[in-house]
Amino acid sequence: MIDEQTGSQNMEHLDEGELIALIDKDRLPRHVAFIMDGNGRWARDRYLPRIAGHKQGIESVRDIIKLSIELGIKVLTFYAFSVENWRRPEDEVNALMSLLESYLQNELRGMMENGIRFYTIGRGNELPESVRKWIEKVTNETRDNKKLTLNMALSYGGRAEITDAAKAMAQDLKNNKVSIEEITEEFFARYLNTNGLPDPDLMIRTSGEARISNFLLWQMAYTELHFTKTLWPDFRRHEMLLALIDYQRRERRFGRTSEQVNRR
Ligand code: IPE
Ligand code: IPE
Ligand code: MG
Repeated sequence: MIDEQTGSQNMEHLDEGELIALIDKDRLPRHVAFIMDGNGRWARDRYLPRIAGHKQGIESVRDIIKLSIELGIKVLTFYAFSVENWRRPEDEVNALMSLLESYLQNELRGMMENGIRFYTIGRGNELPESVRKWIEKVTNETRDNKKLTLNMALSYGGRAEITDAAKAMAQDLKNNKVSIEEITEEFFARYLNTNGLPDPDLMIRTSGEARISNFLLWQMAYTELHFTKTLWPDFRRHEMLLALIDYQRRERRFGRTSEQVNRR
């Protein structure tokens, strides 16, 4: 289902080849971020336990990664677990952690074969030891892969990230490693978990919720936002192509006027 304001309405009937033909390969987003929402509702609609929705959601992640490699998108960030998600029932949290662990175990080989570099942002120290070990292993083994960076936000919160960055910078100031005059936006951004990654060009949230939920607060200052009612387990290649077409129809002005942008 595509929402009315998205600019890609009336295209749902087009097949994949037709949609790909509409995409300008030179103007793809470098970095697409996802708030993968609606797994619970997907499961509830089928009288299944919530975790069945999370499992099915992994298939969407696989689909999107594959399509992104085919198209040449370089960075994907998936919001997999927020700092706030620790408030969920313990059995759901545990099930999500074991899903994550088995995902890493199962995907390592495929990541090597497909040139995927695995990366994480968030308070990794809050994750269970066994998950941390797998994150470390997969991150290390895939570190030189160049095709696509697969960035997972785990125990992530935008405010937590900014607070941690401010703390680390204050520590460096105190130790005279940094002077106040050096502090600029670019300088501060180096203390964030996303140091080295470009800001997202496009952020997609599924399930119809139109909020940011503490995701990439600093990095999304000028990101294009795409909201769709489709639930995450149903968000597949076709929907992603529609989102990319919607993105390409927008004019990114970064404060300038439309005339200025078109003159450049
Ligand atoms: C998103 O789906 C996955 C996580 C937050 C881990 P939800 O679990 O939030 O699904 P809904 O919002 O309950 O449908
Ligand atoms: C946001 O989804 C976090 C993730 C997708 C990991 P939630 O379903 O937790 O968001 P809220 O709390 O409804 O905003
Ligand atoms: Mg949700």
